[in-house]
Amino acid sequence: MSAQQSAAAWRTTAAGPPRDRWATVLSHVTAAIPAGTAYVLVVGHAHEAALLADRLAATLLDAGRPRIRLTGAICAVPADLRGGLTPGTVVIAAGHAWRAHLPTGHWHLTIRVRGASPVRGHHHRRGSADIVVDLHDPAWPVIRHIGAWFAHTDAWYGTETQAFFAARAATWDTGSGGDLAAYAAAVTEAAIPTGASAIDVGCGTGRALPALRAAVGPAGTVLGVDLTPAMIDVARSRARAADAALALADVRRLPLPGRAVDAVFAAGLLAHLPDVDAGLRELARVTRPGGRLVLFHPSGRDDLAGFDGTGDPLAETPLRLAAHRTGWHLTGYDDPPHRFLAVATRR
Ligand SMILES: C[S@@+](CC[C@H](N)C(=O)[O-])C[C@H]1O[C@@H](n2cnc3c(N)ncnc32)[C@H](O)[C@@H]1O
Repeated sequence: MSAQQSAAAWRTTAAGPPRDRWATVLSHVTAAIPAGTAYVLVVGHAHEAALLADRLAATLLDAGRPRIRLTGAICAVPADLRGGLTPGTVVIAAGHAWRAHLPTGHWHLTIRVRGASPVRGHHHRRGSADIVVDLHDPAWPVIRHIGAWFAHTDAWYGTETQAFFAARAATWDTGSGGDLAAYAAAVTEAAIPTGASAIDVGCGTGRALPALRAAVGPAGTVLGVDLTPAMIDVARSRARAADAALALADVRRLPLPGRAVDAVFAAGLLAHLPDVDAGLRELARVTRPGGRLVLFHPSGRDDLAGFDGTGDPLAETPLRLAAHRTGWHLTGYDDPPHRFLAVATRR
């Protein structure tokens, strides 16, 4: 999708016109830079890393914060840097080669840029980073991860999740997992009872809604919840909306009383949450004891694993432990390459 289409998709939503994407991303990144003198390394494909580093340097200049942008093919630390810096200076370098040329012993903040250009070396692509920025569309940058240590608030999460999915909403159903039969099979296997009240959290375009309605029948209740207005707009425009009520809400703070639902369906959601335990705990709050949680992904767990460099919350042991910590008991776990299905019961 082009930048114009991305922006157009965004503008059709209830959220109103976007601020400039770069400005939003850079304001979140700037807020994450530690106070005092800070060393920031941007890694990824050379051009994309340099683009982000240059824009970050320009933003800091506009904000009046002293900054030094290290450049050059030979990673030489300038002599005046070794002699001491104005307090509060941000030193920025781009490129993996700078890792070995630490001006002070360690980089305080590492930003990884994920883009369309290939990056040589496996560790360059998947290495851990404090911040991950998606630059597949250089006119539509999106932050995909900020480590909890650096994110003083979760303000970044809402704008960035909405921006990421707004750009994908119009074509979502043509991507992987468009096969509604896979959703129907998952709902059937989870044995959601007739007459139940079910919520589809992170419902997107509503792929699971017809199957959930078929499971609970006309006497049951189905509610689709999503944080991205563009996704809700698409779900509403489809016949699927007739199967369920739709709500714009954050699954981490659901507008529902405790023990209100019998079943929670979550497809492709968990790995997008910055704090999986907090999400599972909120889902446990709204589910009655004995109710069930269905975690599904239509194209297998490998498609999701490590997308933000923080590990895989759906791997069996971490998921079992997280479920246990948050009020659930994992009763089913099916993890073949072509799909993912886990079922838990509210304790
Ligand atoms: C990978 S998509 C899956 C959509 C849909 N469940 C499907 O299988 O097609 C994840 C969805 O979760 C939504 N989402 C992410 N974080 C959310 C949150 N905190 N609260 C509600 N929805 C969220 C996104 O807007 C997106 O629509």
